[in-house]
Amino acid sequence: MTNINYPRRRFLEYTAFGTLLALLPKALLAENPVPNSKSSSTFNPDVEIDLVAQAAEVGIYRGAKTQVLQYQGKLIKGPQSTLKTLRGYLGPVMSFQQGQKVRINFYNQLAEPCITHWHGMHVPQAMDGHPMYAIARGERYVYEFEVKNPAGTNWYHSHTHELTGSQVYHGLAGLLIISDEAERKLELPSNEYDLPIVIQDRSFDRENQFRFSLNRHNQMRGFLGDTIMINGQSDHVIPVKTRAYRLRILNGSNARVYKLGWDDGTSVTAIGTDGGLLAKPQNMPYVMLAPAERVELWVDFSGRKTGSELVLQSLPYLGSHMAMGRGGMMGGGMGGMMGMMGGFGQDEVIDIVKFQIAEQVSDSPKLPAELIPIRRLTERDISQPDRTVPIAVGMRHMNFQLNGRTFEMQDYMESEKIPLNSIQRIKIFHESHGMGGGGGMMGMMGMMMSMPHPIHLHGQQFQVLSRRQNNSDSSYDSVKKGFIDSGWKDTILLMPGEEIQILKPFNDYTGLFPYHCHILEHEDMSMMRNFYVA
Ligand code: C2O
Ligand code: CU
Ligand code: CU
Repeated sequence: MTNINYPRRRFLEYTAFGTLLALLPKALLAENPVPNSKSSSTFNPDVEIDLVAQAAEVGIYRGAKTQVLQYQGKLIKGPQSTLKTLRGYLGPVMSFQQGQKVRINFYNQLAEPCITHWHGMHVPQAMDGHPMYAIARGERYVYEFEVKNPAGTNWYHSHTHELTGSQVYHGLAGLLIISDEAERKLELPSNEYDLPIVIQDRSFDRENQFRFSLNRHNQMRGFLGDTIMINGQSDHVIPVKTRAYRLRILNGSNARVYKLGWDDGTSVTAIGTDGGLLAKPQNMPYVMLAPAERVELWVDFSGRKTGSELVLQSLPYLGSHMAMGRGGMMGGGMGGMMGMMGGFGQDEVIDIVKFQIAEQVSDSPKLPAELIPIRRLTERDISQPDRTVPIAVGMRHMNFQLNGRTFEMQDYMESEKIPLNSIQRIKIFHESHGMGGGGGMMGMMGMMMSMPHPIHLHGQQFQVLSRRQNNSDSSYDSVKKGFIDSGWKDTILLMPGEEIQILKPFNDYTGLFPYHCHILEHEDMSMMRNFYVA
């Protein structure tokens, strides 16, 4: 079916986390075809970094240090500002300029396979961290690419099939920030006024160690922690001055969806999304942020009193399960089931970050009325007007699937073949199963079917063409004002009952590019497929 034939072998099923071992399905990884264990002599990098994935210990709480998996970076060549180490467990913030040639020598020092993906970046297949390139302990993978992306907030994380959830949870992630000329001209808040905010939920045991268990329930719902971490730290208070800031927010959680809003009811001002800056700032009551999505906010503390606080919170919203439970649609017998599913209907306010006004200053940059020009793609841009590429979210045999299939390293179907340099219309929707209103197992499957899923596509960023909501329940009302459809995206939250059409360019690079649910437990359970661009 595919014309790419890499030999395969079974990796030993070893993992640093003994409890995982019994629960993991057989890890079948393609053997590293080793096209990239060496740097190429013809590629002349502006920036070169050594990046090591290794076990480490980080002080997060008082007392025992926390065992984590961590990216550690070392700058070999390039501007000193390229790498910035944060205090917590996350990898260094990497900052690149558009047009730079970047070489990253990735070393796996973990006791398990690993590969790293540059989420949001438009790079060739061999540089994208496809799981088939996972390397074993002691091996090296050399990434070489030119930065084509515009200014924006991207990230990097482990993409090791069946271990992505565990590896990211234990720390293998970091921010990747791109800047360019158009952005510099806007003179947005920079340096200490440009703040990274990576939101992740975690659970800890009494010895300050991460808790991560993959029972069936956590796999189906996605792992939800009970503690919010910011930038890999437990500290949530940021002292600020009375002026404007740029916040680069990434939802780096395995499964939790946030509904971000200010505690005093101030509206949220978005200036950027996954793929970079918006055409103009957008005011919203709150913004929904699903796993892997980024949003850049403008917040101006001018006029606030020293000592006062403004808190970014996750506000309550209704997910499908809770909505059904509350509406009584599922009847009494489902009560236990609801309890078991739990979690998604978040009816609690969660404090995410507290900004504490610490200093009065008299001057602040003003929010530009226009940011960067974005050419809106329309239906007329579609290369094959009669074609709609499907991404059907479904479930069979208690497993999430895309287009009726689970993931296989190098597999793609006819509908997943994309002509190079084309713009495609892609429809992301819930497959209907005709399961009717049956209770028991069928009811449960129906319910799981109606979970929200953040769908991510590798490669170039896309635009949202349309959304249609087929459910009339109130759960959608509690989230619908929080979507930003005007910019470039690489991840989109498909709500229950929703159908979303996007327009996506597939330029420059041929080969296999994954698309998958970014609830990492779903991805690891094979809710992933490849597009084959040729
Ligand atoms: Cu952020 Cu394929 O993932
Ligand atoms: Cu990605
Ligand atoms: Cu999912």
